[in-house]
Amino acid sequence: MSNQPSSTTGCPFTGELPTDPAELAALMAQVPATGEAAATGIEAPVADWVTIEDLYRDPFPIYRRMRGEAAVHWVPAVNRYMVTSYAACHEIEQDEAIYSADEHNSLMKRSMGHSMLRKDNPEHQVDRDSYGATLRPGTIKKHWNAIFEANNEKYLAELLDKGPGADFVWDYAAPYTGENLRMVMGFHNATQQDLQRWSQTLIDGTGNYADDPDVWALAKKSSDEVDAAIDEMLPYLAKNPEPSLISGLSSMPIPLEAIRANLKMTIGGGLNEPRDVLATTVWALLNNPDQLAAVLAEPKLHSVAFEESVRWVAPIGMYPRETTKDVVLEGVNLPKGARLGVVLGAANRDPKVFEDPEAFNIFRPKKPHLGFGGGVHFCAGTWIARAQVAQVAMPSVFEKLPNLRLDPAGETIDAGWVFRGMTKMAVLWG
Ligand code: HEM
Repeated sequence: MSNQPSSTTGCPFTGELPTDPAELAALMAQVPATGEAAATGIEAPVADWVTIEDLYRDPFPIYRRMRGEAAVHWVPAVNRYMVTSYAACHEIEQDEAIYSADEHNSLMKRSMGHSMLRKDNPEHQVDRDSYGATLRPGTIKKHWNAIFEANNEKYLAELLDKGPGADFVWDYAAPYTGENLRMVMGFHNATQQDLQRWSQTLIDGTGNYADDPDVWALAKKSSDEVDAAIDEMLPYLAKNPEPSLISGLSSMPIPLEAIRANLKMTIGGGLNEPRDVLATTVWALLNNPDQLAAVLAEPKLHSVAFEESVRWVAPIGMYPRETTKDVVLEGVNLPKGARLGVVLGAANRDPKVFEDPEAFNIFRPKKPHLGFGGGVHFCAGTWIARAQVAQVAMPSVFEKLPNLRLDPAGETIDAGWVFRGMTKMAVLWG
């Protein structure tokens, strides 16, 4: 018997069904497994074996097991459905009508205000457009690259002054990316240390599921400081224009509340990720000497190594969405109002898309990863991140720190799952 259902025995789209069980099975295989058209799916498996501690230490074995079982799980420890397959994460990103970014009871809204990242269109687009040309490739080439180069000189020199054994993350990557973001945003009344503190405390508020009052107090303090700094810079940069975000926003017809929320979200998202991808990429290359040798021989490969690093360890490992109606996602039923975690860290290692996905491999066939998100919320700072890390920092790191290597006497730790990166990385050179 043919596997293809004949037009006389039934059609998945008209509801006429064959009586033969084998034909029926073949027919059902043609029914779309996702989206509104699917009739029904399975209940999400419950992953009660997942703990936050295990996710924080190393989420990848957990993701492997989950993806092998189903594209979506209900995870009690996280109080969300976690979506781990590439296809399902991609589908969510492309359909904001069903998968809304405007989550109810959002901790991010409480910590940072209602930013573009928690709005759907058309409201989202108004905020996104208000960022103008500041983060775009033309402005980076004309303006920011020279500033990134000067900042890189300064903070690499500080790392060199500290001497071998210094921490690559905290003595170089963090202050360098903090200073870049300070200037891109136009906070001439703050320091890169302020940016680092604001970023961490606001992010901690976004993840404060335990409702710790001390975490809220620190987030509120930073939020107030950021508001005061914005209030001071807006009139100044309106009179003294420059390519920064605050300068552009000073002439936009957009409410102050939205400006404040968008800038806080950008402080939260524009510093840790370039810092983390810079350290992770260098760590990965140091652990793969053949790939490092190839990159040193062909500097264009710095960009390839950067993208492979964002795939391999997505700096934003998970972000939230909420369903606006009952839906079946890759064969799994989701009720209206379901809180989802879109797990980019898992999608980027889906073996259905990437061969040998757990390996860092700059020679793998080029395929789009989801590390910068997708759809209407695709990362607005992608080009800024690529410029400061792949174009400016990485080539000079390997040039100014010859024979760079991990310090066996120091600590090297990679950690996190919502955000993942190196938390310690002692290095030697020379
Ligand atoms: C390697 C570095 C970076 C990574 C991996 C990254 C990743 C992401 C991801 C996954 C999203 C979408 C989240 C969601 O849909 O909920 C996003 C959004 C965003 N990112 Fe990035 N990001 C990086 C660097 C930056 C930088 C340097 C900036 C700013 C200077 C920035 C600004 C933004 C903004 C404004 C949005 C919101 C876009 C919107 O809602 O339309 N990002 N980023």
